[in-house]
Amino acid sequence: MLNEKAEIRAGVLLSGRGSNFRAIVQHEQAGYFRKLRVVCVASNKAGAPGLAFAADKDIVCLDKCAADFESLADFEQYIVTEMKRLGVDLLILAGYMRIVGKTLLDAWPCAIVNIHPSLLPSFPGLHAHAQTLRYGVKVSGCTVHFVDAGLDSGPIIGQRTVPVLDTDTEETLSQRILEQEHELYSECLKRITEQAWSIHERTVVFDS
Ligand code: GAR
Repeated sequence: MLNEKAEIRAGVLLSGRGSNFRAIVQHEQAGYFRKLRVVCVASNKAGAPGLAFAADKDIVCLDKCAADFESLADFEQYIVTEMKRLGVDLLILAGYMRIVGKTLLDAWPCAIVNIHPSLLPSFPGLHAHAQTLRYGVKVSGCTVHFVDAGLDSGPIIGQRTVPVLDTDTEETLSQRILEQEHELYSECLKRITEQAWSIHERTVVFDS
């Protein structure tokens, strides 16, 4: 169980901007977590802007990206080897825009988490905000969940809602949701690392 350890070492995997990665590290630096420590970050995309934030922090930045490997499985094996060497217990996906393969899933069973900008199971996959606006729902939000082999389909850890306005564009909606993502992700990470929990069928249950 994650929460039984005195310190939980986290690795972050991203693809782009990295604002969720920044928010998690800022929460850590503000003393929000009792156990969670972000020790490394990697990107599948070369030069992802999010990586720059690690530069002056005590966070190892893995220097290879997916293009350095023949297959996604080889990239995943690199992530496993390097992050296990650094003692990573929990893998945090923060805007990682690839399906997670078996190599990662087998390396961290029930210990990979993701954030998605919709109220899952609605609007999984790419372009969640566009899907949301196209459907015409009046409420949206964000979801933090454990990662399984499906597309944004793993057990849900936490969700927050925001209104969808008639005047919304993808930009305005994504900004409103992103503000909630930055709070929700750390809140969920704190709960799964500091509280006892279990998964019943697909429901994450926290001991109070
Ligand atoms: C976030 O909105 C995150 O929820 C989304 O990508 C954005 C990354 O932003 N992730 C997905 O859509 C995953 N299916 P960030 O790089 O600034 O954290």
